Amino acid sequence: MKKINLPQASKLTSPNPVTLVCTQRPDGGTNLATVSWWTYLSFNPSMIAYAMAKTSYSGEMVRSNGKVILTIPGTKIAEAVMGCGSATGRNTDKASQLGIELMELEGSTIKIPTHSRVAIQCSLKEYHEVGDHYLYICDVEKVYGNESEEALFAWNGYAKVAPARQGE
Ligand SMILES: Cc1cc2nc3c(=O)[nH]c(=O)nc-3n(C[C@H](O)[C@H](O)[C@H](O)COP(=O)(O)O)c2cc1C
Repeated sequence: MKKINLPQASKLTSPNPVTLVCTQRPDGGTNLATVSWWTYLSFNPSMIAYAMAKTSYSGEMVRSNGKVILTIPGTKIAEAVMGCGSATGRNTDKASQLGIELMELEGSTIKIPTHSRVAIQCSLKEYHEVGDHYLYICDVEKVYGNESEEALFAWNGYAKVAPARQGE
């Protein structure tokens, strides 16, 4: 084996998970951001975590209102998922700009992309500074699934999103 760094390792571990982090903007709209660094933490109680750069607008939103939904996007919105990962929602409504159809989830004011395989509705429990990111630790309130949507994964770091079986 040869010595490599962590970004290189993240390419070697492809495909990695990918989620769209859905948060609520002050105007009531939904902001969507592509996030590969998420994980299950606990089944009892149900908990997940994800890490986002300190500068992300999504982070600002969840730190201010404590609500977030993580979705696993379907293959039908692959191109838009890359778009949600290359622009900030600070001054842009990414969902409408990228033509992502949204649907409501019962009991939540945050909308989610219709083409989602899984949606994990959470409230923020705590967050921690971890280097250049914040780690958001969340309590899971409700989980939804749709087997007819095929999940996307992140390939080669952040370079592309594709189903696991089709990647590279
Ligand atoms: C495939 C992919 C995976 C990404 N994963 C992460 C991630 O795990 N954490 C992160 O902070 N940014 C990640 N990004 C970059 C963010 O999506 C990007 O910075 C986005 O503009 C943040 O949007 P926001 O400012 O509206 O929150 C990823 C981008 C792509 C394309």
